[in-house]
Formats: sequence, structure tokens, C-alpha cells
Amino acid sequence: MPSPGSLEIIAALDRLAGALGEEIRPLETEQEIRAAQARYLGKKGRASDLMKALGRLPPEERPAVGEAANRAKAAIESLIAARLTALSQAALAADLARTVDVTLPGRGSGMGTLHPLTLVRREVEEIFLGLGFEVRTGPWIETEWHNFDALNTPADHPARDMQDTFFVEGGRILRSHTSPVQVRTMLAGPPPIKIIAPGNVFRRDDDATHTPMFPQIEGLYVDRDVSFADLKGTLLHFVRRFFGPDLSIRLRPSFFPFTEPSAEVDAGCYLCGGIGRRGDVACRLCKGSGWIEIGGSGMVHPNVFRAVGYDPESVRGFAFGMGLSRMAMLKYGVDDLRAFYENDIRFLSQFL
Ligand code: PHE
Repeated sequence: MPSPGSLEIIAALDRLAGALGEEIRPLETEQEIRAAQARYLGKKGRASDLMKALGRLPPEERPAVGEAANRAKAAIESLIAARLTALSQAALAADLARTVDVTLPGRGSGMGTLHPLTLVRREVEEIFLGLGFEVRTGPWIETEWHNFDALNTPADHPARDMQDTFFVEGGRILRSHTSPVQVRTMLAGPPPIKIIAPGNVFRRDDDATHTPMFPQIEGLYVDRDVSFADLKGTLLHFVRRFFGPDLSIRLRPSFFPFTEPSAEVDAGCYLCGGIGRRGDVACRLCKGSGWIEIGGSGMVHPNVFRAVGYDPESVRGFAFGMGLSRMAMLKYGVDDLRAFYENDIRFLSQFL
């Protein structure tokens, strides 16, 4: 006959599940339900409390109490599991009730595409990286000194007219070209320097072929014995990689304050192959000339070297600057520059 002590413990164990059931009925979160579970089955829970008396019972009565404990544990666990399942089903049902029609196809956000100007910039960068140039960037808001003075263009220089730009607070300007990155790079360290500098520039222009903001890419190569032939070879390589393997280039004498000699860079027209005609009619892209202007270039002026603290007697270098949006227009046959900035998805999604 079991002692009254063990009967009492067994009865108490058998009541545990019922009590827990009452306790968790109003609970709404998994966290609260788990906390209730711990109050019953945890180390300091009610079941362990009851089991503490086990050691004081005669050995032959312990198995019956152990059995009751296992029963209680199983009952509590299945109550908890049932309550949690009910809870997640209720959440799902609420979700579904909110949805108007779950069988409708999703809206989807669609894959974006890279902007054509980004594609062109990356392609141009790849070509120059292959020649050992590094990519550098500089600020859009520039000092007048970096943008003009250090580039041999003092305040009264007529060349400033061609690059009329915007003044911002504090006497700074929006840079009118990427050439100040030449200055910043040379100030930052000694030659040799071999960089390209892509980025946006700003001028007082706005029509079908000019936007007040447009991307350029600058090139600068300075070392002890860089020559004009190196400039020409570099540009020729670029044009052949970018526009077509059979094209040539033409360097037209020109003027920039920060290069001497200076040259305008023309690439052979890729549409007519540089002959200026397509069948009987003049090529519409190069207007019959066979050439397309892509940028400016020249040998770095000694005054630029002086401004950055280089000795013009011991270093030489070439520089060039090209308009990236113009190259994108040529490459993709886009005839209105403004299309690049209007963010019309029908236009932009054509560049995959
Ligand atoms: N910075 C010049 C421009 O924007 C282009 C250029 C760059 C010319 C480097 C020569 C050398 O017009």
C-alpha cells in the first residue's frame, strides 16, 4: 500500500497539467507561453519542487511517483505544443484574411539595369586599367585655385570664359572640368603618376548637345620621360578598343592653358569607318568629315608642375579629358543628350 506521502505527490503531479492549461489559455505570445512552461517544468518549476520529496519516500514507492512525473511532463508538453500551433495558425489566418486575393501574381520589383553612362564609364575605365592607369576621384565643389589657377589659368585669363561655372557659398565653385584632379593627385605625392579621373563637371550650358552637368574622364601620366608619342599611342589604343579596331585618330593643334602643346582629339567615325560617306550620302554621324571629336589633350604645362611643387626640368607628362556622355551618345546612337538625364524607364531599360 503506497504511503499517504506518495499518493499526495502523485495527485499533485496529476493536477499540474490542468493548472497549466488554465494558465496559458489567455496567453497571446509564444514568449509568455514558454515562460509558463518554465514555471512548471523548469529547474525551479513546480514539477521539480514536487520531485524533491521523492528522496524521502521508501524506494518501492518511487517508481509510481516517477511515472506520474513523466505523465505530467508529457501532458504539459503536449498542451504547450498545441497552444503554440493554435497561435501560429491564428496568425496565418489573420495574414490570409488581410490579403485580397492570394492567387494574384505578385507585383515584383523587377531587376534594375545600370545607367548607360555608368556602363560607358566602366568600359572606359577597364581599357585604361589595362594600360596600368589607376582610378582617382576629386570633389565636385572645388576651389577656384584647383580648378583654374593651379592649371595655369589666372583670374584674368580669357580661357576662363569657355568654362563659365557656378559659384557656391564660401567662394567655391562647381568644378568645370576633371582637370583639378590632376592637381590634387600631384599635390598628394611624387611622380610617377598614372591616373584616370572620371566624374561630373558643371558649366553654364543647356541645349540638345550640352547639359549643365555632364560626366568627363581625365587622364594624367607623369614620369621622367613621357612623350607626345606616348599620348598618341594611348589615345589610339583607347579609340580602337572603345569604338573599333580599324579606326585611327587625329590630333588637331589646339589650346588649353594647362597643356603645351595642346591638341583636340578626333576619333575616326565608327559609323562610316572614317570615309565620311555611307553609299552615296554623307555619313550623318560625322557629317561627312570621317572624324568625331572626343576630347582635348596635350603635354602638361611647366607652370602646372610648378604649381604642385614638381620640378618641370625633371618630369614630363601628358593629360587628356574626354566627355563620357558624348561617348555614350556615339556608342549607343542616342541623338539627344537629355535622354540620359530624364530617367525614362523605357529608354534606360534598353541598355542591358
Ligand atoms: N579640361 C579640358 C576641358 O574640359 C580638357 C583637357 C584635359 C584638355 C586635359 C587637355 C588636357 O575642356
